[in-house]
Amino acid sequence: MSIKSFLPGRLGFGTAPLGNMFRAIPDEEASATVEAAWDSGIRYFDTAPFYGAGLSEMRLGDVLADRPRDEFVLSTKVGRVILDEIEDPSGRDLGEKGGLFEHGRPNKMVNDYSADATSRSIEDSLKRLKTDRLDIVWVHDVAQDFYGDEWLAAYETARTGAFRVLQRLRDEGVIKAWGLGVNRVEPLELTLDLEEPKPDAFLLAGRYTLLDHERALQRLLPAAETQNVDIVVGGPYSSGVLAGGQHFEYQKAPAPVITKVERIKALAGQHDVGIKAAALQFSLAHPAVAAAIPGASRPSRIAEDLAALGERGPAAFWTALREEGLIVPDAPVPTA
Ligand SMILES: NC(=O)c1ccc[n+]([C@@H]2O[C@H](COP(=O)([O-])OP(=O)(O)OC[C@H]3O[C@@H](n4cnc5c(N)ncnc54)[C@H](OP(=O)(O)O)[C@@H]3O)[C@@H](O)[C@H]2O)c1
Repeated sequence: MSIKSFLPGRLGFGTAPLGNMFRAIPDEEASATVEAAWDSGIRYFDTAPFYGAGLSEMRLGDVLADRPRDEFVLSTKVGRVILDEIEDPSGRDLGEKGGLFEHGRPNKMVNDYSADATSRSIEDSLKRLKTDRLDIVWVHDVAQDFYGDEWLAAYETARTGAFRVLQRLRDEGVIKAWGLGVNRVEPLELTLDLEEPKPDAFLLAGRYTLLDHERALQRLLPAAETQNVDIVVGGPYSSGVLAGGQHFEYQKAPAPVITKVERIKALAGQHDVGIKAAALQFSLAHPAVAAAIPGASRPSRIAEDLAALGERGPAAFWTALREEGLIVPDAPVPTA
């Protein structure tokens, strides 16, 4: 089913930061951030067991438990099972994402894309989220950034395990939609080429942003559009640097990235548009994109996101970005 048929608007809230992604967030601040999103009318929330080894799901569930379940859309992910056993979070091997969620729960996480692990993961997520159903389930991070050269082996386990379980749950009406949630384009291209199973949507993080969009535009987004597989853009601020933060790709932003952001910011300033708006609007402008889900760990960010949603920027700004080579020539831009 097209997720556009049930997504409540084009702006959702990504709760990775609430798993203590970069810092130990007090519980009150985390719940105030979710409440700010709710009070602002946001009704699509994305989370995952990985985000703080269950912490993001628990925090989100605590706030949403009091809200009418029919009034919001919820997505979480499978691919990592959270155990009761404790480990040292700083000792986890997260490849190029090393150091993420060090302040999360210290529970051991096991990567597992098999059918059994998928069913167990969903059961565990329902408990942590204090709900009886999920709307969308994403197969999480089955890609090069977490598995290096072994990613195709992990993908194969997911194809014959998680994908089939989720397709069955979707066909039975237990969930409304399923897909992959990844930071790389290749697993999604591969999935679009499969005869079966067929996903409804993809959560593509960091690969359709002002700073990085060329590869996704070449093949993935046109093919997704043709096949009616909707895209949810995760990480529209490239994990922070496009919103005034310090992070790019979940690490400290390197100098060339900061230089590029400064060039975009200078043009945005000349055309009286905020960089956060430019980033969000760019991600949403492609017709394959159903929604964007910026993350935040502070309540004040939500009003900024909503303001950004209403600020398209003048045509001259988008033309200037093109002329300066800051976006590729065929990237769709917002129209007034
Ligand atoms: N594999 C996957 O499926 C996958 C991967 C990545 C992301 N996602 C999803 O996409 C969501 C969004 O991605 P994301 O949260 O990683 O990145 P993002 O939305 O690109 O950026 C969020 C970051 O921007 C920062 N920020 C926002 N406004 C700011 C401001 N005015 N000044 C300074 N910093 C500011 C926030 O900082 P504060 O924390 O200080 O508010 C937050 O850490 C995730 O939460 C998750 O739901 C999925």
